[in-house]
Amino acid sequence: MNGSVFPYTTMAQDPSWVVAMMPSSLSFEPTAVGGPPSAAQLQRLPFVYSIRTMMIDDYDSVIGMMKQTPGVTFRDADSRESTAMYLDRNPELSFVAIAEKKLAGCIMSGHDGRRGYLQHLVVHSEFRRHGIANSLVERCLTALEKLGIRKSHIDVLKSNDTGAAYWESQGWKLRTDIHQYSCVQSGGDNV
Ligand SMILES: CC(C)(COP(=O)(O)OP(=O)(O)OC[C@H]1O[C@@H](n2cnc3c(N)ncnc32)[C@H](O)[C@@H]1OP(=O)(O)O)[C@@H](O)C(=O)NCCC(=O)NCCS
Repeated sequence: MNGSVFPYTTMAQDPSWVVAMMPSSLSFEPTAVGGPPSAAQLQRLPFVYSIRTMMIDDYDSVIGMMKQTPGVTFRDADSRESTAMYLDRNPELSFVAIAEKKLAGCIMSGHDGRRGYLQHLVVHSEFRRHGIANSLVERCLTALEKLGIRKSHIDVLKSNDTGAAYWESQGWKLRTDIHQYSCVQSGGDNV
């Protein structure tokens, strides 16, 4: 299993996890820095969690958590079949956090050869504010950077204040210089 268990000793000692990151959509632009949990977070951590690569077998629990989370949309592109294809196309770039034998968080990422794209960052409400999101994001950015991808984007619904607050708190910069246009070729509004 490709996982790592708290605490992130190696990463905390290795400044290479501090990578420039660049989001978009509400559109954030980077300067900064998520990363392993802070000392304050470590001190108040009431549980142990591990992070491992997401597998298609995680699909039901990941989608279940997404569907219960306000601010997160579920689209046809999140079907099991599409998710399996996504994980195959982007191996070792999506992660789940497990705490108390339960799914505590998830994130998916991929790239187009030049830019990274993060999606579906969700931490179960029971496990929030303990650094899990930062750890998941860090895992994606580190994996992407190893592939030569040094700039990544995240789309955040304008109605998702929590998401925006999180990304901004981590130094991801809101992009005001671009519009994102989308084209639906077939399949309806929820494609
Ligand atoms: C946003 C979310 C993923 C954060 O997960 P988390 O594990 O609680 O985040 P972390 O513990 O790693 O937070 C690290 C830091 O980010 C900031 N942060 C986290 N949540 C925040 C919030 N709701 N508002 C403002 N800042 C926040 C804080 O600075 C926090 O450090 P602190 O706890 O020492 O103050 C989680 O609240 C969530 O799943 N929300 C619903 C889904 C969602 O909106 N996802 C984003 C989609 S783009």
